[in-house]
Amino acid sequence: MYAYSDFDTQFIAQRNAQFRSQVERRIDGSLTEDEFKPLRLMNGLYLQLHAYMLRVAIPYGTLNSGQMNKLADIADKWDKGYGHFTTRQNIQYNWPELRDVPDMLDALAEVDMHAIQTSGNTIRNVTADHFAGAAADEIADPRPIAELIRQWSTDHPEFQFLPRKFKVAVSGASHDRAVLKAHDIGLQIVEQDGARGYRVIVGGGLGRTPMIGKVLYDFVASEDLLPTLEAIVSVYNLLGRRDNKYKARIKITVHENGIEDIRARVDARYKLIRPQFTGVDQQMLSRIEADFALPEFVTKSLAAYETAYTNDPVFRAWADTNLSDHRAPGYAIVSISLKAHGATPGDATSHQMRVMADLAAEYGHNELRISHEQNVILPHVHRADLPALHARLKEAGLGTANIGLISDIIACPGMDYCALATARSIPIAQEIATRFDDLKLEHDVGPLKIKISGCINACGHHHVGHIGILGLDRAGVENYQITLGGDGTEDASIGERAGPGFSAEEIIPAIERLVMAYLDLRSERAETFLQTYRRLGLAPFKAALYPQAKADAA
Ligand code: HEM
Ligand code: SF4
Repeated sequence: MYAYSDFDTQFIAQRNAQFRSQVERRIDGSLTEDEFKPLRLMNGLYLQLHAYMLRVAIPYGTLNSGQMNKLADIADKWDKGYGHFTTRQNIQYNWPELRDVPDMLDALAEVDMHAIQTSGNTIRNVTADHFAGAAADEIADPRPIAELIRQWSTDHPEFQFLPRKFKVAVSGASHDRAVLKAHDIGLQIVEQDGARGYRVIVGGGLGRTPMIGKVLYDFVASEDLLPTLEAIVSVYNLLGRRDNKYKARIKITVHENGIEDIRARVDARYKLIRPQFTGVDQQMLSRIEADFALPEFVTKSLAAYETAYTNDPVFRAWADTNLSDHRAPGYAIVSISLKAHGATPGDATSHQMRVMADLAAEYGHNELRISHEQNVILPHVHRADLPALHARLKEAGLGTANIGLISDIIACPGMDYCALATARSIPIAQEIATRFDDLKLEHDVGPLKIKISGCINACGHHHVGHIGILGLDRAGVENYQITLGGDGTEDASIGERAGPGFSAEEIIPAIERLVMAYLDLRSERAETFLQTYRRLGLAPFKAALYPQAKADAA
């Protein structure tokens, strides 16, 4: 795990002191809200519906136990005892008082964390596969390069005022768990003729105009990656639309100019700047790689695990859904669900944070990850320890066996917190989860991703949900539009709009009709919702959603 250098520590301390003085001047009235706004946004502080909101970066989703404990302390001391984990590997505090924020930032700095560039038109938190360094299907751990990109981009003088925010995600595995194709730049570690390099995808993004990223380069050698990124962001900085906020993301730049034109410009820029990269970045990368050395794995008897698996159906259900294959024999990757039926997706109480931190310290080599699906991962746990770990998770309300299932819903905060929202998201997620729990159907339904956003900005990733739900405002009434067939993996696709939206009362029965239709339509139990949708297309699902239309058509 990366630990701050003296330079990092000093830099954060200076930045926090500067912000403390800005907050003091806002409180004593010498700064107006308009003057203060850009200053607070540079430090991740938003003003939301009811209160300020502080967004803290969790670089590539990785935390140690000390950091998780500190997040819990902050939640208790300066917020209402909980935090919200987001789809971009951040944590958001929804209720801080302005006067406390400098203390919160100092507390974060004690454990090498900060909120810089979690807002504004800059390169945001660099995200990564949440199974990085542990997954069985991985070529290489993507976090060292993510850390190098973070160091390169943080406070990069040229990239503080880009046309719009800029998001980079990295993965080192064949299966895309980082939603690479919905990012401004997605990087996938690949191998070609025995050499390691990167596939570079640009121009993906969700929001008002969702787009799947395009391959800019199939293979960029490791030593050429940083200059390539610098060239891409420079070209975007120059060419990106500043006249229209809604056309300012790089996805529009790529769309309007064409990928060939962008490639030619990036090539030209690259030639100019390549000599400035003298190889220092590669030396830094090797040092960073040493920080991410794998823990020492051990061999233990699997008897206790096997006994629990055979005799305890609750443990078995959890193991079947919440564990993933680890690269080391005897080990598993544990996904802890923050989606207990009826809970707010992504919220964890300070008590739950501490339990997860303790379990990571005791059984998980001190490591935790935050997933873009708003869950927490313990990446390296020996199977021998799983029965004890599961018992402790259950006690803390963290034992829900629903990873990847219908109640493992991604939802943005929507109208419960967000100043931009046009509808609620959280209650819809809660109702869907409890409804399918009552029906006892979710394990039968199998893998199904529902994603909900409270407005077109798409923070809840609804476009890439197998079932996407978008909350809109129709003349003062909440209306929910359904999209179907979206996918955020290596086969990424944007969901198709199913038809007219539903009211808040109608949306849960509509989802139920959809899922029942799938159960009828699937060719066999193993055919997932997405596979069935891809085989049959929209029509039969549309018929289930709009029974009247079916009657009309008959
Ligand atoms: C509560 C304060 C928040 C505000 C004001 C906010 C604002 C926005 C806006 C304006 C966009 C559209 C940007 C564009 O297309 O140019 C956006 C996109 C996004 N936000 Fe948020 N958001 C908030 C919270 C969240 C939360 C809680 C999450 C995760 C649960 C999140 C994750 C994302 C993601 C994944 C996108 C789509 C990225 C893309 O367009 O490629 N945001 N947000
Ligand atoms: S999708 Fe809209 S409502 Fe939801 S958090 Fe983003 S900006 Fe707010």
